[in-house]
Formats: sequence, structure tokens, C-alpha cells
Amino acid sequence: MDKLSRRDMLRAGGTLGAFGALSIATPAEARVWTWSPSGSVVGTGAGLDPRWVWDPEADTLVASLIDRGEVPRVNTLLRTWTKNGQPLPAGLPADLKAFMEKARQLPAWADRGKIAAAADFNNRRGLYTGVLYGFASGMMSTVIPKEARAVYYSQGGADMKDRISKTAKLGYDIGTRNAYDADGEMIVTCVKTRLAHAAVRHLLPKSPHWQGAADEDIPISQADMMVTWHSLPTTVMKNLVAWKVPMPAADSAAFLHTWQLAAYMLGIKEEYIPASWAEANSQAKQVLDPVLAPTPEGIKLANILLELGATIDAGLLTKRVLGSLTRFMLGDEIAGWLSIPRYPLWDGLLNTFWGPFIAVREGVLKVFPGADSTYWLFDEVLRKVLLAYLSGAQKISIEIPLTNNPN
Ligand code: HEM
Repeated sequence: MDKLSRRDMLRAGGTLGAFGALSIATPAEARVWTWSPSGSVVGTGAGLDPRWVWDPEADTLVASLIDRGEVPRVNTLLRTWTKNGQPLPAGLPADLKAFMEKARQLPAWADRGKIAAAADFNNRRGLYTGVLYGFASGMMSTVIPKEARAVYYSQGGADMKDRISKTAKLGYDIGTRNAYDADGEMIVTCVKTRLAHAAVRHLLPKSPHWQGAADEDIPISQADMMVTWHSLPTTVMKNLVAWKVPMPAADSAAFLHTWQLAAYMLGIKEEYIPASWAEANSQAKQVLDPVLAPTPEGIKLANILLELGATIDAGLLTKRVLGSLTRFMLGDEIAGWLSIPRYPLWDGLLNTFWGPFIAVREGVLKVFPGADSTYWLFDEVLRKVLLAYLSGAQKISIEIPLTNNPN
């Protein structure tokens, strides 16, 4: 059977598609969603297939703001809104203000104890999580076809360095001590990102480049959101576990909780947000693993990421080092898709000494079995990657895009 695109399915299925009733044989990317809402943070839900659910409230509102020509004024006003507890700026359109007042509220299941535990976890583990968000999650996003295409053809695709800083803002904010407190910034960042995603849903379908490359009508469905979510906390946790970083249950539960809240604040419906790591891993297996694949757009984005390191630290963060790190963190298959060559020296160092390096850093092992210079080199790599990823992130304001990538 010819590959049925999502666009074809929508056409063929009409409104049926909207209720997830399509169950014909489909390619991996379009497999029916069977993950049950009973595993979600609220334990219940309508069970609609999230490939056909977007964010109607935000999408209708932002489409209208764009059509009314209000976005430039709104972006200017929102630059002054930076803290979670800060009142919204005066002068926002009434419909946007009403939406944002609601969207900035944490859900009833937000747990202040876990939020405080996460602040402590991030304080101790921020170096690892920061590097993993920036690098493992960042590189993984290039092999999530729908995300790679959406990023490449949207406004931000024209300036990847700026886009990375903007995305890093969320990775930075979620790891701060006061992420969800009144003087923190994570809620602001999530609400602004929710608006930016709504704009992309309105704008991207109009891009002639994207129309030719993507097999979907409206990007960033709820299913896509969860796929990308797994490239963040699920992938980070997988690496921390693989590195044998000591992980008490309270730490991992707290880390998960901050990401459950992030999902909610980004507009993901509660019924799709996993309640536990067991549920998260089972959902990732179903929705992330089967969709990973190379695309021309993703390969170009990966190359930009691999080359960006050298513009920030020409000495250490060469394409070679970052290529080896990608292979080490994401495996041979993904490295192969991205045409990353094998670098025997760095691949060998990482495979042999990264485990002991973490063990010594964590006090689990007393003596590092390799040369001291290798230990310090790894320490430096961690710090430099974190710096490269976060440079400029703090001061960024996420804006509602008005155009697509013109190139
Ligand atoms: C924008 C995070 C899911 C595509 C952004 C921004 C952040 C962000 C922080 C603002 C940065 C910027 O404006 O460049 C996230 C998180 C996600 C998620 C945490 C899931 C948990 C997705 C998915 C797609 C996507 C699933 C596509 C399939 C985009 C695009 C932009 C954007 C195209 C706008 C870039 C522009 O300004 O042109 N996202 N995102 N995102 N995101 Fe996401």
C-alpha cells in the first residue's frame, strides 16, 4: 500500500479523524494512539487520539491576533512581563488578557513539596541536566521528523543560534530554584511558548516550503507535543540512569513533577501527561521511539548544532567532540542517520572513562582509573557545553512569530 500521509488520512477520514476513529493500516508515524488516560496525571480522560487534537483556545485566539495585526504591539508589551507573579502589562487585547490569566494558573495537582525537592535536585544536578537538555534533547529533536521540519521552515529556522537561545530559556528556567514561584520565570516562558506554538499552527501551513515537505495539515498536535516532551525529561533521565548518577526516588519524582507541570503550562491536556516514570517510559516507547528518523531538514539542523559549539569555544567544542558526544548519548543508529563519522579517540575515551568519571564526581569511586588530564577534559566539556547552550538564554524574551522562514 502506498504510504498514506496524515494529510491524505484527514481528507479521507473527514471528521472521523478528529475523533481518532481511523484504524486502517498506517505507517509508523501515524499509528493509532493507544496509551490510556488511566496512566495520566488525572487518571481519566476522553481518550481522543491526540494526533488530531491541538490547542483550540490558544490557536483561535492567536490566529485572530495575527489577522487583526496586533502581534507586534503584543510582543512589545509582553517583553515587560517576565516574572510568574507579575501582573500582566496594561494595554493587552481583552481576549488575550483573559486567556493568559487562565493559562498562567498552575493545576490543582501542583505539589509545592515536589517543586521544592526539584529545586534541590536541580541545584545538585543542574550541570548534568543542563548539558543533557542542550545536547541530548537538542540533537534528538533533529531526528523527530515533524519537529525538525516545523523548526526548519518556521521563522526561527532562519536564525538557529537565536532559536537555540530561546529554547534554552525554558531549559534554564525549569532548573532554577524559583521556577514556579512568584519571582521565577518558568510560567511566563511556558505561556509565551504556548502562544508561539499557536502562531506556528496558523502560519506554517501557509509556507510553500513546508507544504511540499511535510505530510500534515496542522503542525504541533498534542501527540507531537508529547513526543518532544519525551526528548526532554524522558531522554535526560534515561541518560542519568545510564551514567549511574545516584537517583533517589524522591529526586526522580520531583524532576518528573516539574516537567508534568511544564507540559500542562504549555497547553498539553492532562489526560496525555504521564503520572509516573513507568507510564512515561511506556508512552515514549509507543510514541517517540517509532517516529525517530532522519530527514534532510533534521540533518541540516544537526549540522548547524554540531558547528555552533566551535563558534562559542573554538578550542574544545569542535565538531569532532560534539559528534562523539552525540554518538555516546544517543547511540550509533542516530549518529549514523546524522552522518556523524566515528572519531576513534573521543569515542573510545567516552566509552571507557565517562562512567568512572561520573562515579568519581559522585563520590561513588575514590580514584579515577584514567589519566588526570582525561578527568579534567571531561569536566571542562560538561562546563563548556552548558555554557554554550545557556549563553544568552537568561535575557531572552520568547515572542509570537509573525512569519515563516523566508529561505
Ligand atoms: C517555539 C519549547 C514542542 C516547534 C518554541 C519555543 C520554546 C519551545 C521554548 C520558543 C523559542 C522560539 O521562539 O524559538 C517546546 C517544548 C515542547 C515543544 C518544551 C514540548 C514539550 C514543539 C513541537 C514542535 C515545535 C512538537 C513541532 C512539531 C516549534 C516551533 C517554534 C517553537 C516551530 C517557533 C520557532 C519560531 O519562532 O519560528 N518551542 N516546544 N515545538 N516550537 Fe516548540
